[in-house]
Amino acid sequence: MTDRETLHQAVSRGWREMGTLLVHLARDLPPDARGTLVNQPPTRGSTVLFPTVADMNRNGTRRYDHELIYGAMGTPIQHELEAAIAAIEGARHAQIVSSGLAACTTPLLAFLGKNGHCLIPDSVYGPTRRFANTVLRRFGVETTYYPPLIDAEGLRAMMRPNTQVVVAESPGSHTFEVQDIRMIADLAHEHGARLMLDNTWGVGIFRPFDHGVDISVQALTKYPAGHSDSIIGAVSVVDEQDWHVLRDTCIQLGQVAGPDDCWLTLRGLRTMGARLERQSRSAIDVALWLQARPEVARVLHPALPSCPGHEIWRRDFSGASALFGVVFRPDYSQEAMVAMIDSLTLFGIGASWGGYESLVLPTTGGIVRTCAADCGPACRLHIGLENPEDLIADLSAGLEVLTGAASYSD
Ligand SMILES: Cc1ncc(COP(=O)(O)O)c(C=O)c1O
Repeated sequence: MTDRETLHQAVSRGWREMGTLLVHLARDLPPDARGTLVNQPPTRGSTVLFPTVADMNRNGTRRYDHELIYGAMGTPIQHELEAAIAAIEGARHAQIVSSGLAACTTPLLAFLGKNGHCLIPDSVYGPTRRFANTVLRRFGVETTYYPPLIDAEGLRAMMRPNTQVVVAESPGSHTFEVQDIRMIADLAHEHGARLMLDNTWGVGIFRPFDHGVDISVQALTKYPAGHSDSIIGAVSVVDEQDWHVLRDTCIQLGQVAGPDDCWLTLRGLRTMGARLERQSRSAIDVALWLQARPEVARVLHPALPSCPGHEIWRRDFSGASALFGVVFRPDYSQEAMVAMIDSLTLFGIGASWGGYESLVLPTTGGIVRTCAADCGPACRLHIGLENPEDLIADLSAGLEVLTGAASYSD
């Protein structure tokens, strides 16, 4: 078997295996003699009517069971999606929230308290960092940033008596360091803190709670919704007490998602395995092609040895997604790379990822940490469902612009 075939199998195995689960989970529509719909339709509603006041009051105490109480606490389509996400993450409970960012910030509000301390990896999603540096700071919570590949001794030295939450994101945003989640979980627990993981890249291919995670966060906007047409997030937990704290915080913050976004996400989930089985393989084709190019210093794809933390990816993940980084040689300027990006015809230029279409985005900050001396400008690629040969042809023409622009600027 060639290296390419071995890699294809390694990145797509988990996606193939989960196809059956994705098709059959959370389809608990009540049987009806007249026939049963395949899909739960979107359930729109604010007010819920009860036969008596006693019935209404009883429902108020059942908020932890996702009962129908009031639209802001979720309707059946949201609860179906919550059951689906809990199954995929291996959690006992999941709460849908309004966006991926809300999924990152809500548990921080729920589990950090006055004068608390939070440890966050330097590779964290930018808006989570901004939230820590503004809102959390205003509420008296201090944040320390740790290098994502820190060892146990280093992390132990950063723990404080008031450390309440350790955040992880694996692989890291833009720089793709794969973190040792088991080690971080053990250390957090040793010090009485919870580990919260942004598991957006690892949805379906990394089982957070098997590795000691306490709170797992998903930007469902990405692969689960899968079509770049909805903004939605989820937070999952296994501990019953944590569930009560999280659910109460979500209710108090008014955290809810619209029924149409829940419906789009459930619909997207059904085909996530099939989409990613193809997208993960195409991403490897593009990554291997780029790695062999003289203009490229390094490809930051967790399935390739050039990515920091690659060995941990091999140990812990059952597949890979289709999002990775490319670092160019220092001979090329940022302007030359931007000219290359502008010239691409099949890659959209835009934030977010996880849809059916390919995207490219210049990398902001952090890349020096990953690449040291061989570091030039960098960008992030998301590989969609296009024919990978067409994408490679587009990138090949783009590299001519990069080198042409480079010699022009000399
Ligand atoms: C790793 C990660 N977490 C969270 C988010 C936030 O998701 P949303 O765009 O739904 O707010 C993103 C969005 O790009 C992300 O990449």
